[in-house]
Amino acid sequence: MLTFTDLHGLQVDLSFLRGEFEVEPKHVLVFLKHENKWLCTIHKRRGVEVPGGKLEEGETLEEAAIREVFEETGVHVKNLQWFAEYAVHDEVKFCKTVFTAQFAGQEHIEFDLETSGMLWLTDEEFIHHPNLSFHMKDQGMRKMLEELKHRDKQW
Ligand code: GTP
Repeated sequence: MLTFTDLHGLQVDLSFLRGEFEVEPKHVLVFLKHENKWLCTIHKRRGVEVPGGKLEEGETLEEAAIREVFEETGVHVKNLQWFAEYAVHDEVKFCKTVFTAQFAGQEHIEFDLETSGMLWLTDEEFIHHPNLSFHMKDQGMRKMLEELKHRDKQW
């Protein structure tokens, strides 16, 4: 397990083993790379980030991941796989499940009020884009990228 302080000054624990945290995950994040580019969404306040969000009532993590990716980017996913989990020690501690997925198609969509659009980023932009969301720039994100590359060179 990796423990670090994020750019909001909160402790975050990251694990690549399932079920390490006592808090049930209620948030999801999805890594998807297609034709060598990373799928990202542009959050109006936070900036450019990997798609994801909070579970809705009655949803499984997988259902939330599929829905959030579509709502935030217009992309349909397939082959969703559990990848990592992290716990953020906010006032109320919360846990986030990270999936990998593959591209299964794309539609033109109307974005919701929080989203200004979607983007495909090169490796270079994924790390150095000038408008990255805070949690794209922390130690946990770097660790997850290393781990993905280690598992399969296509990442
Ligand atoms: P919906 O798309 O509307 O479900 O919400 P969202 O995209 O804002 O959900 P998300 O799960 O991305 O984030 C919910 C809250 O948790 C936001 O206030 C985020 O800033 C915060 N958050 C998400 N990830 C992290 C993280 O790694 N560290 C910290 N400190 N906060 C995070």
